[in-house]
Amino acid sequence: MGYSKFSKYNFFFLIMVFYVVLGQKNDQIMLNDRASLLSFMSGIVSDPYHVLESWNSSNIHLCNWTGIVCDKQINRVVELDLSHHSLRGTISSSLSGLSFLQILDLSGNLLQGKIPAEIGYLLKLNQLSLSSNLLEENIPNELGFLHELKYLDLGSNNLSGEIPLPMFCNCSASLQYMDLSNNSLSGKIPMDNYCVLSRLKFLLLWSNQLVGEVPQALSNSSKLEWLDLESNSLSGELPSNIVSKMPKLQFLYLSYNNFVSQSDNTDLMPFFASLVNSSNLQELELAGNNLGGELPPIIGNISKNLAQIHLDDNLIYGPIPTQISNLGNITLLNLSSNHLNGTIPPELCKMGKLERLYLSNNSFSGVIPSAFGNVSHLGLLDLSKNKLSGLIPDSFANLPQLRRLLLHDNYLSGTIAPSLGECVNLEILDLSNNRISGTIPSAVAGLSSLKLYLNLSSNHLHGPIPLELSKMDMVLAIDLSSNNFSATIPSQIGSCIALEYLNLSRNALEGPLPSSIGQLPYLKAIDISFNVLSGQIPETFQASSTLQKLNFSYNHLSGNVTDIGAFSSLTINSFLGNFKLCGSVQGMKSCHEKRGYHFIITILLSLLITPIFCVVGYPLVLRSKFRIQVAGFNSKVIEDTEQGGGRKEQKYPRISHMQLIEATGGFSSSGLIGAGRYGRVYKGVLKNNMSIAVKLIDTQAAGEISGSFKRECQILKRTRHRNSIRIITTCSRTDFKALVFPLMPNGSLENHLYPSHGLRHQLDMAQLVSICSDVAKGVAYLHHYSPVKVMHCDLKPSNILLD
Ligand SMILES: *[C@@H]1O[C@H](CO)[C@@H](O)[C@H](O)[C@H]1NC(C)=O
Ligand SMILES: *[C@@H]1O[C@H](CO)[C@@H](O)[C@H](O)[C@H]1NC(C)=O
Ligand SMILES: *[C@@H]1O[C@H](CO)[C@@H](O)[C@H](O)[C@H]1NC(C)=O
Ligand SMILES: *[C@@H]1O[C@H](CO)[C@@H](O)[C@H](O)[C@H]1NC(C)=O
Ligand SMILES: *[C@@H]1O[C@H](CO)[C@@H](O)[C@H](O)[C@H]1NC(C)=O
Ligand SMILES: *[C@@H]1O[C@H](CO)[C@@H](O)[C@H](O)[C@H]1NC(C)=O
Ligand SMILES: *[C@@H]1O[C@H](CO)[C@@H](O)[C@H](O)[C@H]1NC(C)=O
Ligand SMILES: *[C@@H]1O[C@H](CO)[C@@H](O)[C@H](O)[C@H]1NC(C)=O
Ligand SMILES: *[C@@H]1O[C@H](CO)[C@@H](O)[C@H](O)[C@H]1NC(C)=O
Ligand SMILES: *[C@@H]1O[C@H](CO)[C@@H](O)[C@H](O)[C@H]1NC(C)=O
Ligand SMILES: *[C@@H]1O[C@H](CO)[C@@H](O)[C@H](O)[C@H]1NC(C)=O
Ligand SMILES: *[C@@H]1O[C@H](CO)[C@@H](O)[C@H](O)[C@H]1NC(C)=O
Repeated sequence: MGYSKFSKYNFFFLIMVFYVVLGQKNDQIMLNDRASLLSFMSGIVSDPYHVLESWNSSNIHLCNWTGIVCDKQINRVVELDLSHHSLRGTISSSLSGLSFLQILDLSGNLLQGKIPAEIGYLLKLNQLSLSSNLLEENIPNELGFLHELKYLDLGSNNLSGEIPLPMFCNCSASLQYMDLSNNSLSGKIPMDNYCVLSRLKFLLLWSNQLVGEVPQALSNSSKLEWLDLESNSLSGELPSNIVSKMPKLQFLYLSYNNFVSQSDNTDLMPFFASLVNSSNLQELELAGNNLGGELPPIIGNISKNLAQIHLDDNLIYGPIPTQISNLGNITLLNLSSNHLNGTIPPELCKMGKLERLYLSNNSFSGVIPSAFGNVSHLGLLDLSKNKLSGLIPDSFANLPQLRRLLLHDNYLSGTIAPSLGECVNLEILDLSNNRISGTIPSAVAGLSSLKLYLNLSSNHLHGPIPLELSKMDMVLAIDLSSNNFSATIPSQIGSCIALEYLNLSRNALEGPLPSSIGQLPYLKAIDISFNVLSGQIPETFQASSTLQKLNFSYNHLSGNVTDIGAFSSLTINSFLGNFKLCGSVQGMKSCHEKRGYHFIITILLSLLITPIFCVVGYPLVLRSKFRIQVAGFNSKVIEDTEQGGGRKEQKYPRISHMQLIEATGGFSSSGLIGAGRYGRVYKGVLKNNMSIAVKLIDTQAAGEISGSFKRECQILKRTRHRNSIRIITTCSRTDFKALVFPLMPNGSLENHLYPSHGLRHQLDMAQLVSICSDVAKGVAYLHHYSPVKVMHCDLKPSNILLD
């Protein structure tokens, strides 16, 4: 018994010694891990969700701290996961003390500064994720020492510099996932033939500034399933012999680089041929490169699993090969913005799973195949900006899933088939800029599904705007401009309750503007210009709290427009060419002239201006040929004249004395085109090729006026009319005063009435009457409508210039 007692105690003792020694050792190690973590915590300056609260509490065991996982066996921290907690601060290099760490995930925080090189000492690490932070500067070389690493994600930071070579070489054995995308990394992809990333399945380097070719060594990564090099500046030929070694590829993204095709950018065949063994390929994106050549028929032999092809925005030419229809699982095909031509092959419509087809901005001709009606899943068809002609096929009616139909900018003719009204899910219908005629079928106008926009502008449509349009109660924009729509605007448009943009300009619409339109609660912009609408502008427009842009110009609207509410920021530009409108909008003629007041101003200004007029012979000019252009110009001028006087002068080009001397060849006598008592007129050409006439004022003779020269020029600048010449600018020094006008190439009326060289074109009666009428309009403007009343005191044929 004694023996057994002894041995029992002994046994206990032994166990206790062992336990204490081991426990102390473990605690010591645990204390190290704890110190590392606390040091890490001290680098965190903001913890909005209090996830580190447990770390601060003395009575919670380290292994129960948020984000920590320990290995019970070895009693060490093996996992630190604090992802997506909006932690702010820096990553402490002390993390390197967690020498058994296998998983470090700090992604989705607001961590700043550098990635500490010491993370490269965590040799047991197999997952490292620091993505979606604000980390900067270089990726440390040391990360390449992590031999056990399988998963590396540093994406969506602001890392810069080159990718360190060891990243691709030393962790080669185990790495399966590498994501360095969405940073600012530059330089080449650092790989040479000693590097074997043989287990790599995912390589994501998109959105960096990488240059150079895709390294041949990448072909050693024969297990790659996902290769995304999009949005870099990579160049060279498409990496055919690299991808041909990647039979497991599922996703290949090479868009938005500078790749070209083989054989001097003429041959796409080798690349597509290199993909034929990648039978799992699902998405192929090559958009936005410089790829030339034709689409090779072998495109039909690549993966039957292919669901998306993006080849848009390249330089691909020629026809679409019919073999493409072998790709029966395609849902999205984007060939937009290339130089493709020929007809759209009806075989395309055999791709029964097609959902989105983009062929816009090419040179396709011929008709739209009616077989599109068989593509039952078709949701988006964009054939815009081609040379398609013929009719819009009836068969779209078979496509209940069609949401967006974009056929604009083609040569389509015929009428809009009422059957289009059966596309009950249509959100966008854009048939603008074609040659479509007829009326809008009520079934189409009644497409209440349209929730984005209806654009039928620039066609040959006519007839009334259908009442059924009022059913489009979700549509944001309607554009029916530049057609021949007539009759009145239906007030029911006021039921298109979501409408933000309405353009009915350039039609033949008549009658009043319905007040209901002004009540549309979201209306931001309306353009009804160039119609024959009449009556007053309903007050609802002024009362609108959403209207920002408005164009009522060139109608027959009448009445009183005050610059209140939605109109307070408008100018005459929104109301041009409605001669019966008056009111307080900037630049608009006021409704009642305050005679007495203006009369005094007229007399005063006339007194001031008279001498200059007599010297300068303020010329009138006839511009009947360029009315529209001039009208536009006038409106700009009106804007100018309405702004504060102080800044105005800067708006006129500054022309120096020196420039005038250059322009007129030193006021040489060969350039003299007229002379009078107070000065001479020279023609000249400015550096920008503008022909000008410079009226040089004889400062001696006109001595008494020089003091007020500048002020009077200001007044002249503000009088603008189609039939009164505009002053480009003035040049004034004490000894030199000049006015600069545009040169009127046809000379003065005097020259035409009394031709001196015999050969001048004689004006006929009609022209003379028209000149008289235009002179009268110009004078009437000066007398009644210019910002300041001006009296012309030297009206004679030599002061009437013809353009
Ligand atoms: C930990 O506690 C100290 C002292 O109470 C405090 O200053 C610090 O902000 C706390 N840290 C965290 C991350 O909660
Ligand atoms: C962690 O907390 C759990 C209960 O929440 C407790 O059972 C366990 O003993 C704690 N572990 C350590 C090592 O303290
Ligand atoms: C790219 O990174 C920025 C921050 O650097 C982030 O805002 C953006 O969402 C990221 N883009 C993607 C597609 O993840
Ligand atoms: C990214 O870093 C560059 C310097 O490398 C800096 O100029 C830029 O502002 C940073 N961008 C962001 C979003 O922090
Ligand atoms: C990294 O790889 C390079 C080239 O294979 C080799 O020379 C270097 O010794 C390796 N470094 C480490 C730390 O493994
Ligand atoms: C595709 O695989 C076949 C058979 O394995 C092989 O003969 C052919 O060379 C491969 N094609 C390419 C482009 O690698
Ligand atoms: C492509 O597929 C067609 C059949 O669809 C076949 O006849 C042809 O040989 C294939 N071409 C290649 C290069 O595999
Ligand atoms: C298709 O290509 C056009 C032109 O490059 C582009 O604007 C459009 O976003 C692309 N659509 C899709 C879904 O890729
Ligand atoms: C579509 O993909 C499936 C799955 O890989 C395949 O079985 C089927 O044959 C493909 N369909 C076509 C028309 O190629
Ligand atoms: C149309 O394609 C040309 C190149 O073919 C491109 O330069 C242009 O930007 C494209 N236009 C649009 C509107 O996408
Ligand atoms: C397509 O364009 C090529 C030049 O790129 C031209 O030779 C060919 O005649 C065009 N084909 C059609 C149908 O317009
Ligand atoms: C124009 O309308 C305003 C406000 O409605 C009014 O005060 C003013 O008298 C009107 N003027 C004329 C000439 O009708």
